[in-house]
Parts: sequence; C-alpha cells; structure tokens
Amino acid sequence: MARPDDLGNRFEQIRQEALARWRALWEDPRALITVGTATCGLAQGAGELLDVLRESSTRLGLEVQVREVGCIGHCYAEPLVTVKMPGMSPYLYARVNPTKAELLLRYVVRDGDPFLDFVMGALQEDELMPPVWDLPRFHYEKRLILEHCGLIDPEDIHHYIAMGGYRALLRSLSMKPEHIIGKLAASGLRGRGGAGFPTAHKWEICKNSPYGSPIVICNGDEGDPGAYMDRAVLESNPHQVLEGLAIAALAVGASLGYVYVRAEYPLAIRRVRKALEDATHLGLMGRDILGTGREFQVRLFEGSGAFVCGEETALIASIQGERGMPRPRPPFPAERGLWGRPTLVNNVKTLALIPKILENGESSFTEIGTPSSPGTMVFSVVGKCEQPGLVEVPLGTTLKQLVFDICGGIPAGKSFKALQIGGPSGGCIPASLQDTPMDYETLQEAGSMMGSGGIVVLDEEDCMVEVARFFLEFTQGESCGKCTFCRIGTRQMLELLTEITMGKATPEHLQLLEELAMDVKLGSLCNLGATAPNPVLTTLRYFRQEYLAHILEKKCPALQCRELTAYYILPERCAAGCDACVGTCPTEAIYTMRNRKKAVEQEKCVKCGECVRACPPEYKAVIRISPATEVPAPQAPRAEKDSH
Ligand SMILES: Cc1cc2nc3c(=O)[nH]c(=O)nc-3n(C[C@H](O)[C@H](O)[C@H](O)COP(=O)(O)O)c2cc1C
Ligand code: SF4
Ligand code: SF4
Repeated sequence: MARPDDLGNRFEQIRQEALARWRALWEDPRALITVGTATCGLAQGAGELLDVLRESSTRLGLEVQVREVGCIGHCYAEPLVTVKMPGMSPYLYARVNPTKAELLLRYVVRDGDPFLDFVMGALQEDELMPPVWDLPRFHYEKRLILEHCGLIDPEDIHHYIAMGGYRALLRSLSMKPEHIIGKLAASGLRGRGGAGFPTAHKWEICKNSPYGSPIVICNGDEGDPGAYMDRAVLESNPHQVLEGLAIAALAVGASLGYVYVRAEYPLAIRRVRKALEDATHLGLMGRDILGTGREFQVRLFEGSGAFVCGEETALIASIQGERGMPRPRPPFPAERGLWGRPTLVNNVKTLALIPKILENGESSFTEIGTPSSPGTMVFSVVGKCEQPGLVEVPLGTTLKQLVFDICGGIPAGKSFKALQIGGPSGGCIPASLQDTPMDYETLQEAGSMMGSGGIVVLDEEDCMVEVARFFLEFTQGESCGKCTFCRIGTRQMLELLTEITMGKATPEHLQLLEELAMDVKLGSLCNLGATAPNPVLTTLRYFRQEYLAHILEKKCPALQCRELTAYYILPERCAAGCDACVGTCPTEAIYTMRNRKKAVEQEKCVKCGECVRACPPEYKAVIRISPATEVPAPQAPRAEKDSH
C-alpha cells in the first residue's frame, strides 16, 4: 500500500502530464477550434459543423486542431464554437452554421481577422471584446458544477485533471471516512435529486449499516419532462461526477459503484463509459486506487427510460433485473438496498458538488445560498424565455432574477404568467410571487418543490388548466401501477381535467378533483403518486378563476383549449386579394365572402392554427375567440362564378 508521500508523487506525475498536455493544446502554433457537442449542440447541427470544419480546413490548406467540448449553458445560442488563434484570446461564436464555419476558417484562421461581429464574447480578459463572463447571466451565476462545462473536452481525462480534477479524491484517500463525512455535514449539502435530504446524514447511515459492504450509485435517470441538467453535466464533465462518486465510496467504505443512466441518453453513456475507462487506466479507480490497495470498481447501468426508475428503490430493483417498481421504506436503501447491502444513491449534481466542497472547504460552500439551503443548484430552463439553457445559481436566487435577469425575459412582448418548477412533482408559481427565493422550504410553502432542477417558463398564452393536464398526463402514464390511488386516482383526475378543458365540466368536477388530489397524495406509496397532484393543486390555488371560466363560461382565457376556442378572420383587417391563409388550411375551411375577404367555415375547421401563422404580420387578421360560441355569424360565400 502506498504511503502518503508515494501517493502524492504518483498523482503529481499524472497531474504534470495533464498540465503538459493542456499547455501543449493552447500553445500549439495551430489554431484551436472547439465545438460544443453536448446534445443541445448536436441537435442544432454541431455534428455537421465538425465535419465542415475538418473538411474545409483541409481543402483550404489550414492547419487547425478541432476539439469537442460540452455545454457551456447557453443552449439558446447553439451551435457554439470557439476559435483560439496563437497569441490571441479565444473567442466564442454563437449560432454557427456551416456557412459561418467556413467564414471563421477563412477570416479568423487564414486572415487573422477575429470577425468580431459574430463574437458572443472572449473566453479570457481581452482588449477587443468583453469576456463572456460579463454577460448579464454570469453576474447572477455561481458555477461549481458547471465550472468547466463547455470549456474542456469531456472525453479527455487530462483536461479535467489539468483543471484541478481528482485532487479532492487524492486528499480523501488520506482522510478518515468520518472526517470526509464531517466536512460534508459542515457544508450543509442537501441532495440535488429532489427531496433535499442532508447528504452527510445519508452517507453516515450507509457507512454504519450492519448489512454488509456498501454500494454507491450515481442516479442519472432524469425522466422529468423539460429537465436535462443531469444529462448535460454527464455529457460535459463526467469526471467531476465520477470523482464525487469515488469520494462517496471512500467515505462509506464501498468498493463497488454503479452509474445509472437512461438508455435514451446515448451520448452521456458513451462519455461516462470513456471516463470510467480512462480513470481506471490512470489508476484513479479500479482494483488498486493509486497504489493504496483501495478498490473501487464502477459499472455503467443503462436504464430503460421509465420515470419511476429514478425513484431509488425502483432504480435498485431495475439493477437487480426486476421490474422497476418502488417498495416501501424503511428499510431505506442507505441501510439496506441493492442485493440487500447498504446502498448510497445520490444524484449527479450532488456528486459533482462533492469534489468542490472538499477542495474549496466547507465554509466556501455555506457562504453561498441560504442558511438552510447552502450552495448552488443547476436548473435547466425551457419554455417562454429569451435565453433558455442551463444555469447554476446560488440557492435563494429569486424566480424573477432567473426569468428576467438570467434568461432574458419573455419573448415577443408577452407577459410572464407562471413558472413550473420541480417537474411533474412540482407546481406552478404565479408571476405575482416572482420575488420568491428558490430554496427548499420556500418553494414547498408555495406549493411547489425544487425537484431536480427542471423549470418551464409560462407566458400569457399558456392555459394553466392545460398545463396541469399535461403534467398529470405524464405522471399518469408513468405510474408503475402498484398503488390503486396512483394508478386509478391519477387516471380519474386526468379525465376530470380533460373534461374541464373540453368545456364538459360542472362545478362538481372541481370538487371531485380536489378531493381526489388529496387522496392520491395521501394514498400513494412513492413520491411519483404523492406529488403527482401538485401541478393540479398549485394551479387551483393560484389560477382557480381559469378553472371556473372553463367550467362556468365554457371559455379558455388563454385561448388554448381547442374545444373552447374558434378561429375567426376579422373582416376589417383581412386584405381583399390576399389569400395566404387559404392554401395552408388542410381542410379547405377558409372561403371567400362577397366582399372578397376570407372567412372560416367553423364546421370544417380542425383548429390547427395554420391560418394564424400564414396571415402576414401587417394584417394579423386571423384571431382566436373563446367561448367558441361568440364567433360572429358567418357571411354568405362569394357566388361560385365570381370566386375565380
Ligand atoms: C418518481 C421519482 C423519480 C425520481 N427521479 C430521480 C432522478 O431521475 N434522479 C435523481 O437523482 N433522483 C430522482 N428521484 C429521487 C431519488 O429517489 C433519490 O431521492 C435521489 O436520487 C437521492 O439523491 P440525492 O440525495 O443526491 O438527491 C426520483 C424520485 C421519484 C419519486
Ligand atoms: S405511487 Fe404510483 S409509481 Fe409509486 S409505487 Fe405507487 S403506483 Fe407505483
Ligand atoms: S392571410 Fe390574412 S389577410 Fe390574407 S386572406 Fe387570409 S386572413 Fe386575409
């Protein structure tokens, strides 16, 4: 077994090698081009850009190094490319398409012109361009988990080590388990997977369990609609998560670990697998960690994509080859879980925070966030905001700061209506409560929860009854069926909600819905069922008027529910002679009236909204009306013989 000095020397060799490689990358006389190839980038064409950059540089006879990096968080601006010319700062270019990529090669690489018009920012202090860190978003962000995401190659372990990676693991190797857990307890870290359970406490239970040698699991299941933060972290910096997992293993005395990633995340799986191979190759994991005689073997498990398999007991069942169904707790997995052994299950983000806490010191963590919710949280923000993407902010940041200061506000001059936080387990918080700080307790008081970090921003055009129906439809479909309340109760709630959105409901529907919601909450075994009513309960709490409008007036105030809304062409705005909408209507429901203006034949209209999109913005003649019965009486069509 290595003595502490030998241990330090071994690691120092690895670190020096990594630093040398990192320096060589940046000091290379060739231009260095990096492309963000996390799923967000790939979805916007980053894969094609890689091909273009490689082929065009060869064709143009340019010497460049092209590397892949992960997601820097500005998903709205993908594909993101950085170009670093020798002796210059690296510049970050947004929304790069193949044409722009070719221009970057010609202007920046060949001619040395930084092409500033397209630069989003510099990645270092620079005289020509303000750094990216000066963008408003970064003034509110505090990056611990995302610090290196989008800047290093996730498939090159040397990059992570050059950034200081695996130093916390090295330190932990010479610490007593109780010392590691003590530091974690002092940091006040709470699990980032949803419930916010104190991490050190769970580690303590696992370490002290009498049921054999512990197992640690990284929970990368992430099934909430709209949530992609765990995937992005695994795709952008898998080593930080693995380092956290290895430290957890040392603290609880585990020599076996699992990384559980859903099969729908193929890139995350590939990058985690590569990271595991490389860490094992360097002796940071495996049979004999850095010659200490300590063992930590990690297996990658591909989940089959059921939301309920993110619940820790269901996750454990699925690793055991059983159907992914939750079981009652206690015993809690930390006490007795996989194969009957103590099993520590932690979220991806929780684990990614561990090396940071050990490296920077627990007090640096408690200085961030609020007293009861210290540290940072990564949110994936989607929906009606200008700049959706990944953000990492101190807990306690307000909803308003998140929506307006960080994500750029609501597009197209629309108004902010609400924010769904916590995925299907969470709830909708109205714009009137936008000063609410995001911490575990305050969100719960508001009827929602932190969840694992998925946020959907809603504007005036979102119908809150439909939003509740959407989330309930998701949880209903994902119920494992074990409990009657969850299996049948959510289905009945869904039917009631559907009838409300169709204008077929009476006030009794509302009463029944509320009663059922409470029953499902109380009667469900796991949190899937117990939290499924949250979107319904919060929308009822804050937007009851909208429910009542659907029930009593058969009206959808947000003009979204199909059955309660009709399309109508305002004659005074319709331009006679323009028939842009006619050709787009799939059911030929638009006809020409005597005055040559257009009208919609309601019986034929399937409410697809194509006519709204087709009508030129200078006319904006097609509108939606609710209740549908308020559409003015139709005028006679133009006589057949005049219509040609
Ligand atoms: C239906 C359901 C789905 C869940 N999905 C996830 C998930 O995808 N990732 C996750 O980390 N935790 C998920 N959880 C929470 C886990 O059961 C568990 O609390 C968590 O992984 C513990 O990690 P933490 O202490 O680091 O938060 C889910 C819980 C429920 C009830
Ligand atoms: S609450 Fe729903 S998902 Fe959870 S165990 Fe019961 S039926 Fe399954
Ligand atoms: S597209 Fe608009 S302006 Fe043109 S005919 Fe249709 S409704 Fe009238």
